[in-house]
This record gives sequence, structure tokens and C-alpha cells, in this order.
Amino acid sequence: MLQTKMTEILGIKYPIQCGTMQAISMAELVAPVANAGGFCCLPAAAFQTKQDFMNEVKKTRDMTDKPFGVNVGLFPEMTATVTAEERIDWVIESGVKILETAGRSPAPHREQIAKGGLTHIHKCARVRDAVKVDGLGVDLVSIVGTECGGHPSMEEVTTLVLIPATLDRINKPLIAGGGFADGKGLMAALAFGAAGVNMGTRFMATQECPIHPDFKKKLVETPETETVLVMKTLMNPSRVLRTPGSEKILELEAKGASLEELAPHISGRISAGGGKEGTFDKGMYPGGQVVGRIHDIPTVAELMERIVNEAMEAKKKAGRPF
Ligand SMILES: Cc1cc2nc3c(=O)[nH]c(=O)nc-3n(C[C@H](O)[C@H](O)[C@H](O)COP(=O)(O)O)c2cc1C
Repeated sequence: MLQTKMTEILGIKYPIQCGTMQAISMAELVAPVANAGGFCCLPAAAFQTKQDFMNEVKKTRDMTDKPFGVNVGLFPEMTATVTAEERIDWVIESGVKILETAGRSPAPHREQIAKGGLTHIHKCARVRDAVKVDGLGVDLVSIVGTECGGHPSMEEVTTLVLIPATLDRINKPLIAGGGFADGKGLMAALAFGAAGVNMGTRFMATQECPIHPDFKKKLVETPETETVLVMKTLMNPSRVLRTPGSEKILELEAKGASLEELAPHISGRISAGGGKEGTFDKGMYPGGQVVGRIHDIPTVAELMERIVNEAMEAKKKAGRPF
């Protein structure tokens, strides 16, 4: 019904990825997404020891027998004690078969990944990075437009332009991300020629997502205009919700603050902790513009079913004369 190269390569039912989300996409979110026919990754960077990572993989496996992946970020990390190579080794050893890398070029890691027999998705945010990665032997390319939660590019190109511009230049199947929340969006991405979509922000407002209920309430209340791009002065932009914490970061950046001065406000630890406590005055809360299209907090299974039904409805409608 909705079979694409993405469903074929990843062995999943629907071409829908719940985007990797720092300390959020843990077993309690990854497993229900997998059980509902979608795809989601555990974030390797959330674990400082191999044992903790292996425990989360086991926990996920205890909750689902469907495929899921692991994300290894190739972004500069302020507090990393484990290298990307070590994390990729953890994935290989864990027996999880799908790896998503994101951020910098995965070229230095391709040999290790191929030897480890992993199916490889690389997520990037610029057409030229997608073109480079396309030639590296990855299985799927993933791209996010500037409206996405998390890390878009410095270039601020929207998803609507980025998807076709990328598809014009690559051969591998493409996962499109940034601004997707429903089945109409999924069908639009497929109509462009993408193999599926990646939705992060939308999946935060689900029953199973392990964030504070106040944070979910805030997602439902926040309009599409209330996100900001912080960390542009560090050449590492991040789209986050407009909160007192993110306003403070923008204020510091406008004054020319150094990395050391910004560090206490931008460290992932503070944001993840705040998300659990439901306070918004410190740190930052990644969220995309599509937050303005979130109006409820369904279970993951309800959301997935809704997306698929809407996509089929949109497909029918598209066949009718306008
Ligand atoms: C709260 C949050 C945390 C995120 N953390 C990560 C991450 O750790 N690694 C990563 O590759 N992408 C991360 N992202 C990006 C998502 O995986 C996904 O690419 C993005 O959310 C898609 O755009 P959307 O938010 O418009 O759906 C994060 C996004 C959000 C909203």
C-alpha cells in the first residue's frame, strides 16, 4: 500500500521515521514506533558506556521484534568521552543492523560501517552534502530543511525546495525531513519522489514520548511562529522553541558570547533535564516550525494509523480534477 525503497531497505511497513531525538528516542518511544510499522533510532550519544547502551538495546528488543536503528551523531560534541568509531563498534557488536549517522561527512567511517554489515542512512542538511554522501555507498540519504527541529544547515533552505533540489542530484533513495506532521505531508514527499519522511517534533507530542507532560502541553500550545535558530554564531545552528532559555542564548550571541560563555546554556544535558522537569527558563528545547500543526497528544499507534489513513486519502484526492 505504501511500499517504497525506504520500507524495502529497512524492512518496515510504512515509510515513516520518527526522527532520532537525543535523550528522548529511548526504548519507550523507539519500540512503539517499530511496533506500529515505522522506524526509529536509539541515540548512541545518550550513553557514556557500552554497557548502558547495550542495556537500552536489550530493553528495546524486549519491547519489539521489529527493526529499529541506532543514530551516531558526527556533530562536534562538547562533552564526548567516547568517539564515533567506538560508538559504531557498539552498534556492530549489539547486532542492530541499521545505522543512521548525522552531521559531518561519514566518509572516514564508511569502511568500518560496510565491514560491520550495517545498512547505512546518512542525514544531512545541504544538497552538496547529500551529493557527496550519495557517492559513498550509503543505502539511504536523509535531508532536513531549515524548518526542522534540531540541526538544519546555515543556509536556511526550506524543505519544499531542498527535497526536489536534492532528488535532482542524487541516485540513492531519499528520506525527507523538516516540517512533516501528517499523511498529506507524507504523500507530498512521495509525490516529489522521496522514499519516505522523517518526523521528529510531531512524535514528541505522543503519549509514549518520555518528556515532561508540561513540555507536551507546550508543544500543543506553541504556534509555528514560535521557534528560533540558536547557535548560528557557532556555525552549528539549532532550531528550538522560543523560551526564556533560548531568548537568553540569542541575547548572548548578539553580544558576541564565546563558546565557553554559551556552553552552560546550550549543553544537551541541561535541555534533556529541563524537558523532564517541565521548566523552560534554562537551556533549549529543540522543536521545528511544524510544532504549530500539533493539536493533540495521541499514542504512537494512533498517530501512525492517522498518518497512513491521511496519506491514502490525499492520494485519492490528488487523482481528482481540481
Ligand atoms: C527534541 C529533538 C531532538 C533532536 N535530537 C537529534 C539528535 O540527537 N540527533 C539527530 O540526528 N537529530 C536530532 N533531531 C532531529 C530529528 O531527528 C529530525 O531530523 C527532525 O526533528 C525532523 O524535523 P521536524 O522536527 O520538523 O519533524 C532532534 C529533533 C528534536 C525535535
